[in-house]
Amino acid sequence: MEANLTAVVAQPAALWGAGALAVAAAAATKGRARLMLSRAKHRSLAGHARMSRRVAGLIPAWSYSDQRFFRADGAPDDVARQREAGFARLSALYKQRFARTAAMTKEAAQGLSDLQFTGAYRVPFQFSRLVRENLSAGSFLQSSDGVTITDLDGNRLYDCAGSYGVNLMGFDAYKRMIAEGAAQAAELGPVLGAYHPVVADNVARLKAISGMDELSFHMSGTEAVMQAVRLARYHTKRSHVVRFCGAYHGWWGDVQPGVGNPTPADYTYTLADMSEKTLKVLATRKNIACVLVNPLQALHPNSGAPSDSALVDSSRKAGFDKAAYAEWLKRLAETCRANGIVLIFDDVFVGFRLARGGSAEYFGVQPDMVTYGKTLGGGLPVGVLCGRAELMKRYRDDKPVDICFARGTFNSHPYVMGAMNAFLRTLDTDEGRALYEGLDERWNGRAALMNAKLAAAGVPVAVSNLSSIWTVSYTQPSRYNWMLQYYLRAEGLALSWVGTGRLIFSLNYTDADFAEVVERFVRAAKAMQADGWWWHNPGITNKLIRRGILKEMWAAKRGR
Ligand SMILES: Cc1ncc(COP(=O)(O)O)c(C=O)c1O
Repeated sequence: MEANLTAVVAQPAALWGAGALAVAAAAATKGRARLMLSRAKHRSLAGHARMSRRVAGLIPAWSYSDQRFFRADGAPDDVARQREAGFARLSALYKQRFARTAAMTKEAAQGLSDLQFTGAYRVPFQFSRLVRENLSAGSFLQSSDGVTITDLDGNRLYDCAGSYGVNLMGFDAYKRMIAEGAAQAAELGPVLGAYHPVVADNVARLKAISGMDELSFHMSGTEAVMQAVRLARYHTKRSHVVRFCGAYHGWWGDVQPGVGNPTPADYTYTLADMSEKTLKVLATRKNIACVLVNPLQALHPNSGAPSDSALVDSSRKAGFDKAAYAEWLKRLAETCRANGIVLIFDDVFVGFRLARGGSAEYFGVQPDMVTYGKTLGGGLPVGVLCGRAELMKRYRDDKPVDICFARGTFNSHPYVMGAMNAFLRTLDTDEGRALYEGLDERWNGRAALMNAKLAAAGVPVAVSNLSSIWTVSYTQPSRYNWMLQYYLRAEGLALSWVGTGRLIFSLNYTDADFAEVVERFVRAAKAMQADGWWWHNPGITNKLIRRGILKEMWAAKRGR
């Protein structure tokens, strides 16, 4: 009896013990998996989407007085006065030279929220007020020609903005392609739903270029990415998308989980780029549907788009190592393949810019899907997703109601398809093939030339490049690097609203055009230096600058 009783008591106790052990083991496994995931995040704020959103909500606004604007780095009075004089001269030049363009921009901005946003984020916000009052060059243009654009005041400027990367072949080529496409589509006109015959040719050409079986047309790069991720989730029956820290894939919520998106992206993991810990996570987790790669990150892994509004010091760094990035992609592809994860190359930006066959050809690694956009539209808006047949299928033969839906009113618009066809046909001309001959050597040589001239001029500026995509870095700690964009504009060089963070050149720049850009760039940097902005206290480091800004922030928070 006793024995029986003991057995009766012991059994549930043993079961409970075993259960508790199993629960503890499962919890430990889960805990380990979470820890592994945490470790695979980049240690920067950009690597922690939720935290970065929380921190963004805590930072108060503060603005420098006219006095402080010129002394934010503790410069002595004579240097501050030098800066003031330079600023006044630049302000007078802007007010005279860009008068009409700035006036229309100011008027339109009242009803155009995009202009208000870009206008507000050209420089670190503490400096923004005085800059906006004095250095507006405006955002309107009247014409383009060769590698130049002309504003409403008739100023002809070298275009270093590249229309967000769309402008690969030069403005005149896109004008021709749009006209050709429109002529081709004219008879059908804007009929949607059924296709213009040119669509079939586009499909054949894009299949050949991408090496994929099928494709879908969309209206923007953002939508092409949305569809890629949706299909990956549908076919893998997994929930999560992995993006790399700093990478841009459009403005859809799931691929923009941090600052800029008011709601958390609960099904997105933002992991460190080029990291062993990331590979471990990919090799072990079973809920990852796909990994998105924007190969532009090879220029600045784990950092976001290098905008001058974040240029609070000189810690912005960049540098492209093709072999290292290719090796990383190779290992990433192997890991994804071994674990049933769909690898998506987002070539919306770099597609056709690095090589005819995009980053797959350039880095020698084949993804499962690839997205294109920007330049592929021949100057008109577009997004394209190419993929293997089994991933592109939107329904299941054995479960007819379980579909993966995608539409878009303007997909395959005849005029867009016509311009795209003109672009794709141009690639197959002698002129198109010539675009890629010695491409990297040419642009690496131009970057080296620029750096040699900058070094010879003794200015603390250097460039890094991924082929024709460039970014500017600053070689000594300073709070005023963002001023360079205004000196560059005064020399007739047009940048986008992110300033010196990203320069994009069209491939029709001749050596002579480029020599002119270099000369103007160096002249601008020397003028900025002569006006005292790069006065440097040898004791100051980037870390100390950031500490100083943090102190200002606390003071602003306490209302002082
Ligand atoms: C890599 C990448 N993916 C997606 C997008 C979004 O494309 P779109 O602006 O056409 O929506 C961009 C835009 O810059 C991009 O660079």
